[in-house]
Amino acid sequence: MNDVIPEKKSILVVDDDIGIRSLVVDAICQAGNYAVIEASDGVEGLEKLRQNHFDMVICDVMMPGMNGMDLLDKIREIKPTTHVILITAYPTIGLTVSAMKTGAVDFLAKPFNIDDLLYKVDVYLRAKTILSEYDKQTTATSLTTKISDLSTRSYIYDKIELTKNNDEIFQEMVDLALKVVGGEACSILLYDKDCQEFDAVVVKGVSQTFFKSVIIPSLYSILRETVHKREPLLRNIIRNTVYSSVICSPLKMRDQVFGIIALSGKSNEHVYTERDLYYIQSIANRASLNIENRLLYESLYTNLLSTFQSLVASIQARDYYTEEHSMRVKDIVIRTAEAMSCSPSEIESLKIAATLHDIGKISIPDDILLKPGRLTTYEFDVIKNHPVIGENILKPLPILDTERLIIRHHHERWDGNGYPDGLQGSNIPFFSRMLAVTDAFDAMTNNRPYRKAMAIDAAVAELKRNVNRQFDEEIVDYFISTLHRRPTIAPRGILPDAGQLV
Ligand SMILES: [Fe+2]
Repeated sequence: MNDVIPEKKSILVVDDDIGIRSLVVDAICQAGNYAVIEASDGVEGLEKLRQNHFDMVICDVMMPGMNGMDLLDKIREIKPTTHVILITAYPTIGLTVSAMKTGAVDFLAKPFNIDDLLYKVDVYLRAKTILSEYDKQTTATSLTTKISDLSTRSYIYDKIELTKNNDEIFQEMVDLALKVVGGEACSILLYDKDCQEFDAVVVKGVSQTFFKSVIIPSLYSILRETVHKREPLLRNIIRNTVYSSVICSPLKMRDQVFGIIALSGKSNEHVYTERDLYYIQSIANRASLNIENRLLYESLYTNLLSTFQSLVASIQARDYYTEEHSMRVKDIVIRTAEAMSCSPSEIESLKIAATLHDIGKISIPDDILLKPGRLTTYEFDVIKNHPVIGENILKPLPILDTERLIIRHHHERWDGNGYPDGLQGSNIPFFSRMLAVTDAFDAMTNNRPYRKAMAIDAAVAELKRNVNRQFDEEIVDYFISTLHRRPTIAPRGILPDAGQLV
């Protein structure tokens, strides 16, 4: 029976120590897109290998019955392309050499850092994917080096791509640098051009105080040179500093240096090479690009939103209600989304959609938009165009695609009798349904030219009455849970028809 999901990279973890085996399996499962199978010894491992395809085997050396070295021999016989990482509590040079000769791609000594294992798993599996595109029998050193470079770079790019803000990027850069090339200390320094000073915003390996008071002054000339040359520098055996090997790579935006990633090694193990310099440069360049893109995007986004907000505000000149209403709907829809555990990016979308949901009213003539009495069928049809007009206003901007859809459908009804498309039930976009509930509640609880505001309790009752007709029941329940209830008395008179709320 094949119990490995084929789309995922598959890994077999073989260890007789259930504690370590579970730790490794859990960490790999949490790390991402891997299918993991476990075996408690070499014999069971071999059986699983015969039954399944595995991209990688992580295997303990000392195990009862068939040990890791014997299993490695068997793997080379029956599945020669499978990558093997060996783990042992008793590493010796002889064992390491023997394992590498037999074809293990790497060797980890217990106790090991789980992050180191995950890094190796990721990089070797990437290398395997790249290799599969070439002749699998090719073993030329230059090709192997190229593959290693490509897989390490793609690992670096992916990690930086996953960061959400500059703080995370800086932290990730430091972690990546130490993981990929090693070292004693790593820091991100922001450069103040006017004062010609460096401010260490992230430091790893030594204390921030030590870095600022001892290392920055001792490396100052190299840091200045990096800024001046605007290119990465490698210095080995540096006199008058606490380190024997240093790499500095500039962070640049439009060719201007705004910071430096500085990496230093103290012992002989950390004498950096040109290849290390290349990796650190890759980290610095990728992060710089990412920061620049993010800043450009944020400024574009902010400008765009303020333009739209002034458009909404311009409706205020004619209809004071629309702008105030949009701001109140934004506040209450966010509270509902938080109660429903929506993600920060979903809440951001809702914020924009709620602010702009009635932007289409800009095209409605005053005599209809501001009419104090009940609307005629024709007038109501004109008003009903506003979601589509709003959608069209946002159409030229692909970055607001999600918000556009929410706005188009904010007057659909659960029973399919809404507009503009008569969508029904869960076919209506979820956030349009959420906006519909909060929009209707705010409209009911505020004064309009043609009627007075309803009390909160009466509006809640109206929402409940329209559950599964106009509104999504679950959303209504969550929305009601966000209200700070207070005893109120419903006004006497006729309740407005929720279907006529615009
Ligand atoms: Fe509307």
